[in-house]
Amino acid sequence: MDHPLDRLTRPLQERRDARLWRHHRTVVSRQGPLTQLADGAAPVLAFCSNDYLGLTQHPALIEAQSKALGRWGVGSGASHVVCGHTQAHEELQDLLAVQQAGRIPEAQALGFATGYLANMAIFSTLAAAGGRSLQVFSDRLNHASLVHGAQAATRHHFRFAHGDLIALRGMLERAATEDPKALRAIVVDAVFSMDGDESSLPGLLALAVEFNALLVVDDAHGYGVVGPAGRGSLWSQWDEAPSGAERIIFMGTLGKAAGMAGAFVVAHDQWMDAMRQWAPEAIYTTASPPAQAEALCAAVALMHGVEGEALRQQLRHHIGALRAMLPKLGAAAAPGSAGLMPSRTAIQPWWVGGVAEALALAERLEAQGIWVPAIRPPTVPAGTARLRVSLSAAHTEHDLQRLGHALLESAS
Ligand SMILES: Cc1ncc(COP(=O)(O)O)c(C=O)c1O
Repeated sequence: MDHPLDRLTRPLQERRDARLWRHHRTVVSRQGPLTQLADGAAPVLAFCSNDYLGLTQHPALIEAQSKALGRWGVGSGASHVVCGHTQAHEELQDLLAVQQAGRIPEAQALGFATGYLANMAIFSTLAAAGGRSLQVFSDRLNHASLVHGAQAATRHHFRFAHGDLIALRGMLERAATEDPKALRAIVVDAVFSMDGDESSLPGLLALAVEFNALLVVDDAHGYGVVGPAGRGSLWSQWDEAPSGAERIIFMGTLGKAAGMAGAFVVAHDQWMDAMRQWAPEAIYTTASPPAQAEALCAAVALMHGVEGEALRQQLRHHIGALRAMLPKLGAAAAPGSAGLMPSRTAIQPWWVGGVAEALALAERLEAQGIWVPAIRPPTVPAGTARLRVSLSAAHTEHDLQRLGHALLESAS
């Protein structure tokens, strides 16, 4: 009889042969535009991270966390429901709830160690509330955590073409006719992680109201970056609390623009009660270190204050400068075309198409001292490999010039 490990040999080899092998590059410097790789001769100029405001290295946050470590020690010791929930966690949650209160009525927040966990907790709660008839409607380009969460939660998982509200309406109509009493949830990335474009939240909420559904908004890449004071996509897409906003379940991450780690869900009080009662991800796991929660309060305050605004201004300037420098593609990229995909956000993907071509371009850039990751299937659909350029306020004008010239030269 075969050893169980032998069952892995062929699929692993197939992955290698298809040039889809993933491996970890070891970084030996701090995060930042100039990054030293363990296997690199010299530092490379990196356009890879989600540190959109450059806060991973902010001196005030390093100091806040050092101080908090002195106060709280290194760990929380237990889950939130036992004795791991400290005043620092509570203050962070209050801060996050108050920030979104202008968009979500009776808002409350719950913190998580990661965004992946927060998304899984949303789906666990949906499954607990909706039972076997739960219906989930997902944008086809949603983040993997949303796809996996939906697949685990229900057999009734409908994936609509990217941004296509007409297709979504058709699916909602059919599903609502088949099972009018089912709990329904529409689920989207607000800013798409590998594309940089944005969902139309007003159109989605209108459909959620019409078909009596909830609307789950994953704002991992919008929170801290878009909207007044960086409050995220609910603020960039609405000038005031929209009607039906009690249906919105908002997820934001703290490991991207906020520069640290963690995530949160903000929603109506009733939903948050359900999450605290039913989501195993909120119950059976150790709370994040309280020192991290305390430092996150400082990060969130900084991000939403005057300094955060100046950093966002810098980031917006970089986005405009890069787009002015490089050719841009329309909404549908033709095979063989290359250029920046449509995006107003810090994620500025350079479309390539083929896996081999994307890897070759990334290698040519790295030979010039520039690190941009090639994103391949299954992270993106087959035939849509790309270089995911991500910009940060920590980049300089000169960094952008280097990237622009290198891309123009290497891609032609
Ligand atoms: C859209 C989206 N949602 C959720 C996550 C997961 O967040 P975290 O990295 O905090 O687990 C990511 C991370 O890449 C993401 O891009």
